[in-house]
Amino acid sequence: MVESFLEFYGKHEISPVRQDLSDYKKHTERRRELYRHLGLLPTSFKDKKILEVGPGGGYNSLVIADWEPSLYVLIEANKTGINDIKRNFAGHPILEKKGLQLIEKRLEETSLDEKFDIVLCEQTIPHNKNQKDLLNKLDEFTKEGGIMVLTCIDEISSYFEIMKRYFGFQLVKGKEDFREKVNILVDALGPHKRTLSGSSRFEEDWVIDNFLNEAVHNSLFSMGDCINFFREKYQIYNTSPKIFTDYRWFKKIPEEDGKHNEVCLEQFNCLMHNFFYTEKIFDKRKSSQNLELLDLCKEARKWAYLNEFENKEIKKEMGRNIGKIIENAGYLDKDILNSLKDIYRLNKKEKLTIEDLGKNCKHFMKAFGKCSQYISLTKNNSI
Ligand SMILES: C[S@@+](CC[C@H](N)C(=O)[O-])C[C@H]1O[C@@H](n2cnc3c(N)ncnc32)[C@H](O)[C@@H]1O
Repeated sequence: MVESFLEFYGKHEISPVRQDLSDYKKHTERRRELYRHLGLLPTSFKDKKILEVGPGGGYNSLVIADWEPSLYVLIEANKTGINDIKRNFAGHPILEKKGLQLIEKRLEETSLDEKFDIVLCEQTIPHNKNQKDLLNKLDEFTKEGGIMVLTCIDEISSYFEIMKRYFGFQLVKGKEDFREKVNILVDALGPHKRTLSGSSRFEEDWVIDNFLNEAVHNSLFSMGDCINFFREKYQIYNTSPKIFTDYRWFKKIPEEDGKHNEVCLEQFNCLMHNFFYTEKIFDKRKSSQNLELLDLCKEARKWAYLNEFENKEIKKEMGRNIGKIIENAGYLDKDILNSLKDIYRLNKKEKLTIEDLGKNCKHFMKAFGKCSQYISLTKNNSI
């Protein structure tokens, strides 16, 4: 198993995180809305010092550069990604102003004198084995009073994706050729992605990153993990999707010493089932039900891992697991129930075909979690 996305990308000399920039205005709008959810406007970046770790090919970074930070430092260690950054930024006005610095190193190996107003690290912490080192480095580079933006993924939010991977694996099992596997998975799972409106990634990249990237099985990083890790030094600012509410009278908040993290943590366990299925929103439910769902989704991941990497026959165990997930979450919504029934049926099949994953499972085809969530945190100011 590879240690990280970085190692997997290096091994195949790829950077499968390209974005479709053919409609750049739309690309900008999508990025603007993400940051707006996180409490950041284009003016929040103007004339500020920004650090971005793991920008991939710099597709998203272009938009931030357009918002004219005084300094924009990118730390990226994947060679293919670095070449994409150089190509994407060629001729960008920020170069003339000498506002862009590209550091071609791993974050862990980077030392900087500078501290930053905003530190971005999107889609890079989950699936990394040395999360703690990376998070401590990000903290080191964030100014007091500054903002950090991270991405979180948990087992509930990525359940449907891991099941797509589990079934996709049955189609490419035993095949050696990387390209052949990519083509099969694009045929089988591309139709799933096409049901997601707003998705701007290339199908091939999505397939490689989600269904062939071995690092997907490394540990995840939930919103709860994130809040707990930074509890003493940072306060939750915003999230995308926005799942937390805070009805406190602002004048009382200082009396409570902020307590932003506590307000969110209290809600997290009762709300995390909202990440299970995209575009569906549910009321709070008992945290015990959600913790059970979390355990079941962790177990599904474990069976998928054992099947893929240790060649274990786990159909029976997976079948029991799906049954329990149906009991736990099937009542929430009929699309969820029907998707889980599709999964149950697919798991029973002796041999899967591309058609089985396509037109023969129309509910599962549309089933995605709110897989990645973004979170912004403010660093406490000791002044
Ligand atoms: C999944 S991609 C995300 C790319 C982009 N941020 C996005 O959201 O589309 C993760 C990126 O982080 C880079 N990366 C991973 N670990 C890193 C590390 N320790 N130091 C520097 N870059 C790293 C990878 O090379 C890759 O480009």
